[in-house]
Amino acid sequence: MIKMGAASKLTLALLLGVFALIPTAVQSIGVCYGVIGNNLPPASDVVQLYTSNGIGAMRIYFNDTKALAALNMGGANINLIMDIGNENLGAFATNPSAATTWVQNNIQAFPNVSFRYIAVGNEVSVDDDTQKILPAMQNMNRALSAAGLDHIKVSTSVSQGVIAGFPPSAGTFSEKASSYMVPIARYLLSTGAPLLANVYPYFAYKDNQAQIDIRYALFTSRGTVVQDGGNAYQNLFDAVVDTFYSALERAGAGSVPIVVSESGWPSDGGTAASTSNAQTYNQNLINHVGAGQGTPKRRQPLEAYIFAMFNENGKTGLETEKHFGLFNPDKSPAYPINF
Ligand SMILES: *[C@@H]1O[C@H](CO)[C@@H](O)[C@H](O)[C@H]1NC(C)=O
Ligand SMILES: *[C@@H]1O[C@H](CO)[C@@H](O)[C@H](O)[C@H]1NC(C)=O
Repeated sequence: MIKMGAASKLTLALLLGVFALIPTAVQSIGVCYGVIGNNLPPASDVVQLYTSNGIGAMRIYFNDTKALAALNMGGANINLIMDIGNENLGAFATNPSAATTWVQNNIQAFPNVSFRYIAVGNEVSVDDDTQKILPAMQNMNRALSAAGLDHIKVSTSVSQGVIAGFPPSAGTFSEKASSYMVPIARYLLSTGAPLLANVYPYFAYKDNQAQIDIRYALFTSRGTVVQDGGNAYQNLFDAVVDTFYSALERAGAGSVPIVVSESGWPSDGGTAASTSNAQTYNQNLINHVGAGQGTPKRRQPLEAYIFAMFNENGKTGLETEKHFGLFNPDKSPAYPINF
């Protein structure tokens, strides 16, 4: 047995103190928790699964009381993005008290939950509804502010369909989207909130297989694929994120950060959907974001949320939609991943 003197105990304590500052989990990676399945585990088990895997952030797609209650009991270390649900856009846009009541029932009622962002709309594409996003965001901000919750940032989550242009430096909001995206971008600049962007190299690859090498989509290219002025792109993920940054710059909101509110790859059900490709993409995404180097255009840490926690058997649309999960409904990993 080694006896320690007071001085070496102090040294040890200092060392431990220093090491304690290094986070054990990569806080920049979150995972989206969708619940469109009839065989998913209870929310308390899900929060436990996040914690045991060191996943430090979650996105939920509506004011899911079960998830909120579970986070309130044991998920204080999990940062949360909560969506409002697109069906509520109209009420929040026109009725400030709807936002006030919602903040009371779904945020203030869960004081242990670490709310980070409220997503006012997810991939809103119906023309009538796109005009409701900004007024709904404004009412949500007023409601949070009145409740003393200004630290919770209000944004909206958009698909990569709102951007156009190539290479990334030519990025702009598309002709169709710019009427609502430019005012939203400038509003985000004024509130200091990020733009939430769903970034899917998978869909870009699937729809353009003749133009895109799958290695560029999977982060496995050996060298530069796209040279854009001084910026060299080795993966499509960075190229899409930087196209968003260029679009924000052209909208006069270049300092608004991007948070990647969804990204992922299906393990079954369609073109290039395999466990091998899903594992490669998601592990490389975790490693890439975890390295903290950002993108060629913005060399600053990026926050990203993988879609999704579970394979969801109730999802409609393309068969691949059911197979984006990192975990099976019985909580076993769909394939090995290190967070
Ligand atoms: C979520 O909020 C909406 C709008 O206020 C409300 O109609 C709905 O009942 C809430 N859902 C849950 C599960 O609390
Ligand atoms: C907050 O979390 C603790 C456990 O960490 C729990 O004992 C407490 O009841 C929670 N507070 C509320 C209001 O649920």
